[in-house]
Amino acid sequence: MRVGVFDSGVGGLSVLKSLYEANLFEEIIYYGDTARVPYGVKDKETIVKFCLEALEFFKTFKIDMLIIACNTASAYALEALRTRADFPIYGVIEAGVRATCKNLKDKDKEILVIATKATINSKQYQIGLKKEGFTRVKALATGLFVPMVEEGIFEGEFLKSAFLHYFKDVKSPDALILACTHFPLLSKALSEFFGSKTRLIHSGEAIVEFLKENSRLKLLDKRANLRFYASSDVKTLEKTAKLWLNLS
Ligand code: DGL
Repeated sequence: MRVGVFDSGVGGLSVLKSLYEANLFEEIIYYGDTARVPYGVKDKETIVKFCLEALEFFKTFKIDMLIIACNTASAYALEALRTRADFPIYGVIEAGVRATCKNLKDKDKEILVIATKATINSKQYQIGLKKEGFTRVKALATGLFVPMVEEGIFEGEFLKSAFLHYFKDVKSPDALILACTHFPLLSKALSEFFGSKTRLIHSGEAIVEFLKENSRLKLLDKRANLRFYASSDVKTLEKTAKLWLNLS
């Protein structure tokens, strides 16, 4: 099986890491729209247009399935993409909602969704979680974390200031949905900040679970062959991939 993984830039490598380590595919083609990142501050029309262009790129490969690693793109473009492709396309939001259901049995537990402005404004997570019966869902746009992660800031005083900026009035939730590709890289710092009561929901792990349950993928005994493409500066993308995926 050959899968395409699309993201607005390098962030989707956090989802790629989970897919790679799950040994579900023979080949993974990653494409990051690094020339036009970030998507999280753009409007719906622009996001959909960029995603449809990416779809045309993926159509030049014979992929069996496409995964939209980017939460912002998943929030706005999934429907438009699905009507124009003859292979299955999965976003990360439904998977994230399902993973939350598995982790929180009590529907009155408190959930905090953190994401880009666009993802929060789309209300896709909020609607999905309410549909599942969750009654206490809060959502917060924490866009500053995106450039911080890209700068390699995963700990320290600067990050702590950003946490205080966004979370000064926030009580530790029972589940924290990391609804942005970059945020899993802050998992350790976020866990330390909110404490052990807070479960973190990671898009990459969620999509792997989702695929295991909802597709007929078989477990392979070796890692996938990886191919990287970007709309700008593929070398930096490859360097980041080596770092995040621990590739030699
Ligand atoms: N990949 C985006 C997301 O998961 C974050 C970066 C961006 O704004 O494009 O929402």
